[in-house]
Amino acid sequence: MSRVAVVGTGYVGLTTAACLARLGHDVVAADLDAEKVARLRKGEIPILEERLPALVAEGLEEKRLQFVVGAAEAVRDAEFVFLCVQTPQGESGEADLSAVEAVVREVGPLLAPDAVVVTKSTVPVGTAKRIARWLSEAGAAHEVGVASNPEFLREGTAVRDFLEPTRIVIGCEDTAVAVRVSDLYRDVPAPLVVTDAASAEMIKYASNVFLATKISYINSIAVICEAVNADVKDVALGMGYDPRIGRDFLNPGPGFGGSCLPKDSAALLKTAAGIGYDFELLRGVIEVNARQRDHVVGKVRTALGGDVRGRKIAVWGLTYKANTDDLRDSPALEIAARLAEEGGDVHAYDPISGEIAGGQVPGVVIADDPYTVCEDAEVLALLTEWDTFRWLDFRSVAASMATPRIVDARNLLDGVELRHLGFDYRGIGR
Ligand code: UDX
Repeated sequence: MSRVAVVGTGYVGLTTAACLARLGHDVVAADLDAEKVARLRKGEIPILEERLPALVAEGLEEKRLQFVVGAAEAVRDAEFVFLCVQTPQGESGEADLSAVEAVVREVGPLLAPDAVVVTKSTVPVGTAKRIARWLSEAGAAHEVGVASNPEFLREGTAVRDFLEPTRIVIGCEDTAVAVRVSDLYRDVPAPLVVTDAASAEMIKYASNVFLATKISYINSIAVICEAVNADVKDVALGMGYDPRIGRDFLNPGPGFGGSCLPKDSAALLKTAAGIGYDFELLRGVIEVNARQRDHVVGKVRTALGGDVRGRKIAVWGLTYKANTDDLRDSPALEIAARLAEEGGDVHAYDPISGEIAGGQVPGVVIADDPYTVCEDAEVLALLTEWDTFRWLDFRSVAASMATPRIVDARNLLDGVELRHLGFDYRGIGR
């Protein structure tokens, strides 16, 4: 079993730390935020993520997981240092590596000569090389290894994605170092791809952008389906049985959001531009994604006869997808805010409403009950696919609305049944 430091306790860092502890390693996880560290030590998890609280509690109890303030504190005896700090989108689209650089320069002189620095955060191609340079400038021993081990975690299923991954990718020029990193995962049954660092970094971008492409593709198909009276749900099902296509990521909706797909799409476009390649296909993917948000706003407007001004609009769902409390780059949030901007009287409910601060969604009233938001509303827009929305009492929803209309931007509900209950039901691509 190995001694591992994890720097950064966001979604990726916390999941990595808890899961590596689960695999039997001794993990010290560091964050700069002392208050957060104090809460984590008590087993309080700041994010909504299935199975994570139980794993952290287990790690703390069995003393395989510790939380400390500051990277320096974590790395002293570490054989592996996982970098899980944020790499936000910089002003021109490329990933901002300043947090990675700061940590590397800080810990460089403290690392044992046989330590390996592993990047988990999504970082631009070429970052492993830059890390090696920063390490040497900071006075780290020249034997310190650098490897790329990208994560493919989805929020909401992050623990499962870590412990039962579809593949483990390790990028490193030094095979002996790659073998040591792969050994951390020896109890995880998954195909192992060992390659050079640049290819590993590229695998992450190419995968996320492929997923984004699939979503924009089906969203475009959905627009055509609407015009030709086809049902995109059946179209996607019929396509998905072909193993070359696959059924996943063919759900049309308000477009992709969250902290990864939009950011990684922008970053890869920037990388392409940097080498003089016009990645037209990716430009289209991003453009379709932006237009999909307009498309949903337009659907609500059309449902109201062309004008949202002064009309009460109920919204269900604000997070960028279900089963997360993450609002980063959420299409739902933007659509709700835009309807308010156009003069709509927008009231929104989300299962995590309690955690949304007033004013966080400009012009939108946040309610803590799915039924009260619908009272006297002229249209209900379902924007995030929380399963609980399927099981609500639509008879009382219809009775309380001024006019029972639904724009189901996730195709979550049963349109036939709702029409039967008197709703004007509009899905996406059907
Ligand atoms: C994504 C990748 O899936 C993951 O591998 C990577 O490590 C991080 O980025 P995540 O952002 O957590 O994970 O969410 P994901 O489930 O991929 O959804 C991303 C966005 O696409 C969401 O806004 C979601 O609503 C949307 N989406 C997804 C669709 O609109 N249709 C689909 O069929 C699937």
